[in-house]
Amino acid sequence: MHIDTLPQYSKLPSNHISACTVIVVDVLRASTSIIWAVKNGAKQIVPTADAGEAASVVNRLGLNDCVLAGERGGEKLAGFDIGNSPAEFNQERVYGKTVVISTTNGTVAIHGMNSAKTLLIGGMINRTAVAKKAIELGNDVLIVCAGTDGTVSADDICAAGAIADAIINNSSEPCFVTDFTRVSISLYKDFLDDRFDLASTYHYSRLLSLGFTEDPVFCFQEDITDVIPVYENGIITRCR
Ligand code: MLT
Repeated sequence: MHIDTLPQYSKLPSNHISACTVIVVDVLRASTSIIWAVKNGAKQIVPTADAGEAASVVNRLGLNDCVLAGERGGEKLAGFDIGNSPAEFNQERVYGKTVVISTTNGTVAIHGMNSAKTLLIGGMINRTAVAKKAIELGNDVLIVCAGTDGTVSADDICAAGAIADAIINNSSEPCFVTDFTRVSISLYKDFLDDRFDLASTYHYSRLLSLGFTEDPVFCFQEDITDVIPVYENGIITRCR
């Protein structure tokens, strides 16, 4: 199995990923929020490329059955029901509902990778489960870091390394990893050993300065769920 990692989302030719399992990682916070919404019984998640598309999807589906979620620059979008803190995607709010979500980077990356053979949503909270699913599917793996505002985001690199490490440790066959995948694993190991201070990096520290102090703590818990969201035909549901 070949494991590659994209440092930040960028559009790739369809034929580059049509045979791959793509794992989109936006650990702070879109991936984590989506995983948590699916875990809490959301009927489906509709990731949209922008806020306007999100509003039109809700109008088409009907307000009563939808929760409109999303942020720009970390803060809740005006007129939306909730922002992008995972804790907002609780059972009371999302159970049985269609969550229509638009975020600055994460949902754009999910949309952009839609020609993958299989597109999974990964984070720290489902790290081992998503790794084992990738092994089970047996395709080459591309872990896509969403990034922040069009540049590399250390939080995503760390989470990507955690997932790559879990694939290697759980795979019974040899894994061939690219240099950047090795870099991401090394960053993850440094993070675990307190040799890399994620809290000082741009996106993490911006969330703290905006008052979202609980979100990074929640998002960096390892393996608190085995739920694996999968994106197919424009919607995200639980992968069986
Ligand atoms: C993103 O999609 O860029 C992130 O989820 C942003 C955030 O939640 O603050």
